[in-house]
Amino acid sequence: MRNTIAVMNTKGGVGKSTIVLAIAETLSAHHGKNVLVIDSDAQASVSAMLMATTSLRKLQGDGRTLVDYLVAAVLRDTQVEWTDFVVGGVSDVDDARSVYVMPSDMQLTLLEREVSKESLHGRLRASIGGLLSRARIVFDVVLIDCPPGLSVLTESWLREADFHLSPTKPDYISVCGLDVFSRFKQLNPEMGFAENLGVLVNMKDRQSAEDEDYHRWLAGNADNRCFQQVLPRVNALQQAARFQSEERSLGAKYPGEIGIALRGLTAEILDRLAAAEARRTANAASQVQPHEVKRPAERAAAGAPSRKAAATEGIDSVSGMANGTAPAARPGETGARAVKPA
Ligand SMILES: Nc1ncnc2c1ncn2[C@@H]1O[C@H](COP(=O)(O)OP(=O)(O)OP(=O)(O)O)[C@@H](O)[C@H]1O
Ligand SMILES: [Mg+2]
Repeated sequence: MRNTIAVMNTKGGVGKSTIVLAIAETLSAHHGKNVLVIDSDAQASVSAMLMATTSLRKLQGDGRTLVDYLVAAVLRDTQVEWTDFVVGGVSDVDDARSVYVMPSDMQLTLLEREVSKESLHGRLRASIGGLLSRARIVFDVVLIDCPPGLSVLTESWLREADFHLSPTKPDYISVCGLDVFSRFKQLNPEMGFAENLGVLVNMKDRQSAEDEDYHRWLAGNADNRCFQQVLPRVNALQQAARFQSEERSLGAKYPGEIGIALRGLTAEILDRLAAAEARRTANAASQVQPHEVKRPAERAAAGAPSRKAAATEGIDSVSGMANGTAPAARPGETGARAVKPA
């Protein structure tokens, strides 16, 4: 299942980290999904939203962050177990027990500098691809919190993830950030790029005619695939960034309209992932090559039962392909529970 999502807008402060947090907690507590958050921002914002500062410092001190994983895999070219850098038991929402995080560290900036200096971009991208290919099987959804701008690391996530989701404020500068991102996507298409899962309008002020104009304009461009659900500017979402040592329910953390909006948004995300999977399966089915379909005479020679209707030709191969692309393991069976707790 394609389920890895880079949350990205080249513009800063549009709510990327806050949204990663809120989506992860709602997917876990409300939809019962196993969620991995990969913190790819040197500021470690989402890591700090998911745990106490002392716990984050300890993980950083113990070398259990995304940076430590990448230093080993990319700079030292050594084999490391990705799950050693994944931490469970995070989030202050009492019923969001299936949220996991690969925390970040300020040293990420230095790692990126080394990658560029030593021209290790290829190895970086391969490590990111390898990491996502394993995480994709274990977790229901993987969310990557990208920093603003377009670093070499962000480019790797965008080329290796299945989807990107772009939060934007309904204002001129944030929309320009989306435009830069879209131009970047059009460069070097042969190198691969994540598919647009959707643009999410965040921090919309219902009283503002200007916000409404920008929202309508964004939604009018089909390429944006704007989510129906909009996130309003509310105090509760601003407060959500502050990790509390006292656990609370999902409803207490995201009360009233923001809770309803987050449930609506996460349902839309799951629907879009399922629809993309269905499209992929259908495409795989339609791409069966003629030489893969044995003609009745060949079938008979091979001992297979003959079929009357030509229309049924190829069904065996098609279902074989579909089976071949199904997830190798169900989340939870081999998965997130096996990941080291904090
Ligand atoms: N819907 C919302 N309502 C009110 N405040 C919000 C909302 N979404 C985000 N915020 C606030 O906006 C600020 C920026 O959010 P956040 O840090 O998540 O943005 P970001 O895009 O990750 O920023 P950066 O680019 O620096 O990583 C924070 O103070 C956050 O609490
Ligand atoms: Mg952020």
